Amino acid sequence: MTVKTATGAPARLPERAAPKQGLWAWLNKRLPVDEFIEEQLTGYYAPKNFNFWYFFGSLALLVLVIQLLTGIFLTMFYKPGELTAFDSVEYIMREVDFGWLIRYLHSTGASAFFIVVYLHMFRAFLYGSYRAPRELLWLIGMLVYLALMAEAFMGYVLPWGNMSFWGAQVIVNLFGTIPGIGTPLVQWIRGDYGIADATLDRFFALHVAALPLALLLLVMLHLVALHRTGSNNPDGIEIKEKTGPDGKPLDGIPFHPYYTVKDVVGVGVFLLLFALVVFFKPNLGGLFLEAPNFEPANPLSTPEHIAPVWYFTPYYAILRAVPDQRMGALLMLLAVVSFLFLPWLDRSPVKSMRYRGWLSRTALALFALSFVALGYLGLQPAEGLYVVLARIFTALYFAFFLLMPFYSRIDAVKPVPDRVVYHAH
Ligand code: HEM
Repeated sequence: MTVKTATGAPARLPERAAPKQGLWAWLNKRLPVDEFIEEQLTGYYAPKNFNFWYFFGSLALLVLVIQLLTGIFLTMFYKPGELTAFDSVEYIMREVDFGWLIRYLHSTGASAFFIVVYLHMFRAFLYGSYRAPRELLWLIGMLVYLALMAEAFMGYVLPWGNMSFWGAQVIVNLFGTIPGIGTPLVQWIRGDYGIADATLDRFFALHVAALPLALLLLVMLHLVALHRTGSNNPDGIEIKEKTGPDGKPLDGIPFHPYYTVKDVVGVGVFLLLFALVVFFKPNLGGLFLEAPNFEPANPLSTPEHIAPVWYFTPYYAILRAVPDQRMGALLMLLAVVSFLFLPWLDRSPVKSMRYRGWLSRTALALFALSFVALGYLGLQPAEGLYVVLARIFTALYFAFFLLMPFYSRIDAVKPVPDRVVYHAH
């Protein structure tokens, strides 16, 4: 029997009401696939004014998948242990079919991960995405960042090149600056009196099993928290507060198909740039893979300048900006921990930089400049003018956080519109 409307025309039943048949119905009776798609994709409303800065969340997911897949293949050929690690990486590069590609995808992927995540975090600074009601989303994001740092550090030790060895030496020794428990703690982490076979084996276990699991779990929680509050947007307006008669946000559009399609564009551009680096400049002039790491670990020969990979150098510059190592280690820790307090340090009546005054804008610009400058300085030797500059930029870096409760409150703000600003292209 066909259902008729009041005018007598056959009614169009909503698609969801159509009875499902076959394998799909069988599957849905046992697993809520359709419900998931409806709740999290087609029925999940995201603000319609997302811009360039909103590409980086999905790109971070893509890089995570790249790292997991290439990592699995590397693990098939890599052999931990101080006598085998370096040679097994050489073997992967020279003998294993496409081993060079898998390794370069993984090493370039590590840097790409941080580029994408730093841009992703900067977007939160621009639009106040860390503020209520998204504090927990931000804190989980920070846990992801910490897990990512641990993952990258341990991965870097695995090839057992000379920079792996000496980098591990410097970083693990930082734990020795903790009063009272420092020395036994360092020995416990290393599993030996120096960076040795035991250290490499445990870093391998953590890098391939424990930390990827933690990362996956945290990323999942990050997305669950995101879907609970909904996304922020470049205007910093809560779209859930203005809904239409159907209860849907007036300024929202279904995530699928609109943003899945948009994200595919981002993925295309990203993969193009990524492939350019992987195929033409995988070391990126020593920035992505450092020259001393093509020599085997040698406890008797220190590299001329010990420097971590670029994504850690802002913190490394802060560590070396002060003469006292204990103080340096504390500042380095505080430099990372400060991010956790942002939701409560920011007292501005508006979220987005679009509606903030010159004080907040200048503060953010100086902070971004300090982060990049410290990143550069961390790659230079800790001497002369480099140290002076590192001190100035360290002061600016911390001033951004410490003074935020004041400048964010007194800063002149512009009126925030009722609805998001969106110009159709
Ligand atoms: C593996 C790393 C990460 C993945 C896969 C990831 C994934 C995502 C995705 C898919 C979104 C939604 C799309 C978007 O807003 O771009 C998102 C939003 C967000 N993420 Fe992440 N994220 C990661 C790391 C981080 C980190 C390290 C932070 C900050 C410490 C962070 C903070 C945020 C915030 C505040 C939002 C909401 C932004 C808004 O609505 O304006 N995320 N994340």
